[in-house]
Amino acid sequence: MAFIAALASSAIAVSLPARSAQDVFTPAITSPKAGDIWNVGSSQTVTWDASNPPAQLTNNIGQIMLVKNGYTTPVVLAAGFPILDGSATFVVPNVINGTNYAVQLFGDSGDLSPAFTVIGSNSFF
Ligand SMILES: *[C@@H]1O[C@H](CO)[C@@H](O)[C@H](O)[C@H]1NC(C)=O
Repeated sequence: MAFIAALASSAIAVSLPARSAQDVFTPAITSPKAGDIWNVGSSQTVTWDASNPPAQLTNNIGQIMLVKNGYTTPVVLAAGFPILDGSATFVVPNVINGTNYAVQLFGDSGDLSPAFTVIGSNSFF
């Protein structure tokens, strides 16, 4: 058992790239704001503060996922953009009407926006 644990921890140590705490970039999301309303089919821009990146970024490519009730959904809103752009624009997909949506910005780390509402869908369930 101890051998397996030692094996597992050494495997983890080998597979992780060397990084220090200040290399992790978690820029604050500045839009959407709490209570915003997105219409299905409308163009929306997520913005974040990219003004203070670390000297070395472990991952400089961003991806934005849709979150509902605190759970990250499989819906990719935008992907493949430079994280230092500070914004990404996309068309809101046809998801069910609801409150408590959020977006999660992935790069080095995952950052969550405040909750907003999506309306305008003809889909239910
Ligand atoms: C979703 O919201 C829109 C706009 O408020 C409304 O017209 C539509 O009927 C709603 N869809 C459902 C399935 O309730």
